[in-house]
Amino acid sequence: MFLFLLLLCASRSGESLPSGDGVPMDTSDLNRESFPEGFLFGTATSAYQVEGETHQDGRGPSIWDAFVKIPGKIANNATAELTVDQYHRYKEDVDLMQNLNFDAYRFSISWSRIFPEGTGKINWNGVAYYNRY
Ligand SMILES: *[C@@H]1O[C@H](CO)[C@@H](O)[C@H](O)[C@H]1NC(C)=O
Repeated sequence: MFLFLLLLCASRSGESLPSGDGVPMDTSDLNRESFPEGFLFGTATSAYQVEGETHQDGRGPSIWDAFVKIPGKIANNATAELTVDQYHRYKEDVDLMQNLNFDAYRFSISWSRIFPEGTGKINWNGVAYYNRY
């Protein structure tokens, strides 16, 4: 069984975290051994939010590319054309995950990167990108 714990903030053992009711939770005894055998600590991303490179290397348009261009839909007219540029910087991201001692990484695939026309023709640059991880 694979379980993922998305760490929204780094917490060292011994620090107090809010428990949800505003009362600090004592985490002094919390560590990896507090979790069942085989529990995987990991992180996750969404392709649209991290990849960037939306109009190059053979990727086709997605419904999100069109949606974010509708005035008033996205704060500050933000798009995913650059984001954190994981398309080019994935090695740095994998190094960061290793340095943080994560066991797992859940990522999503931008299907318009694989099938730029929706169906049929395959963009092998996109396939190669996901195979490089
Ligand atoms: C977002 O786009 C609209 C329409 O083009 C423009 O009027 C507005 O100034 C832009 N906002 C920002 C934060 O760039």
